[in-house]
Amino acid sequence: MRLNSAFVSIFSFVSTVLSGHLREKDRSWFPTNGTSDGVQYNDQIACAFWERTDGPSITFATATFNALAPSGQHGYAVWVRIDNNEMCPDSWLIAGIVAFVTNNSETIYKAWYEWGKEGPYYSDVTVTPKDVIRAGVTALSPTSSAIMIKNLNSGQVNIHYLNSTRSLCGQGVSWGVFLDHVDDPIPFDTVTITNASAYGPLGSTYKAEGANKMEIKQDNKTVTSVETEGSTITIRHVYE
Ligand SMILES: *[C@@H]1O[C@H](CO)[C@@H](O)[C@H](O)[C@H]1NC(C)=O
Ligand SMILES: *[C@@H]1O[C@H](CO)[C@@H](O)[C@H](O)[C@H]1NC(C)=O
Ligand SMILES: *[C@@H]1O[C@H](CO)[C@@H](O)[C@H](O)[C@H]1NC(C)=O
Ligand SMILES: *[C@@H]1O[C@H](CO)[C@@H](O)[C@H](O)[C@H]1NC(C)=O
Ligand SMILES: *[C@@H]1O[C@H](CO)[C@@H](O)[C@H](O)[C@H]1NC(C)=O
Repeated sequence: MRLNSAFVSIFSFVSTVLSGHLREKDRSWFPTNGTSDGVQYNDQIACAFWERTDGPSITFATATFNALAPSGQHGYAVWVRIDNNEMCPDSWLIAGIVAFVTNNSETIYKAWYEWGKEGPYYSDVTVTPKDVIRAGVTALSPTSSAIMIKNLNSGQVNIHYLNSTRSLCGQGVSWGVFLDHVDDPIPFDTVTITNASAYGPLGSTYKAEGANKMEIKQDNKTVTSVETEGSTITIRHVYE
């Protein structure tokens, strides 16, 4: 199980926006070992994920994100992603939105996508606080992709075609939240990801329900919970 490097890249992205330079780029995002309830823990990521080891089976993944509402000075990102797992540690296709609060208390929203460490690229799709954004990533082949980002409120849509020499394996899908900084206070009460699903060439279907979970733990306390039902993932700030 390996869910690490994509998040370095998201982190770099957010950091670049915030401060104009990269920070803590080499940090490793290996999760701690799972527990008896099957949940894995991380200090920066909460997500639902599926992984396979029996050959390419995921070629399309999608999710719909409600507008983010970051609190304090703390940003976060939500995303849908193929790969970045044991079989494909250095390759992944990801799209999502990020929001953070500037020092002037202005909240900035961006839609973005990337392939492995190529990118992140900004989408032209405008995101505002009331919006609902749908993102979809498609592996057209192991080395070519189409990324769709659509603002369901405004109807604005972009489809980006991206090729890479980092072949995808099509063996993992995840949907989740990433904090701007390790040990940030959790900058949300509830994040809801809907329509979370993924499909493969042979008719395989993956929904949020039944997926593995990764929750955020800080100072040995679980600070987010992850619940799945149907194609909906609910990530909550847990107050102890
Ligand atoms: C995690 O699990 C592996 C395999 O069971 C074990 O070798 C390793 O020591 C564990 N790591 C920690 C930090 O508990
Ligand atoms: C925002 O405030 C922090 C802490 O006061 C400071 O380190 C940072 O440089 C500021 N960022 C900008 C873009 O002014
Ligand atoms: C990606 O590769 C495919 C197949 O070689 C090619 O048809 C397509 O034009 C390429 N797309 C881009 C954006 O380079
Ligand atoms: C949910 O996903 C399906 C495709 O899997 C798509 O047809 C539908 O429009 C999506 N709905 C929303 C609200 O994003
Ligand atoms: C966290 O919990 C583990 C296991 O209960 C314990 O060994 C460790 O000392 C704790 N760490 C902190 C920082 O409290």
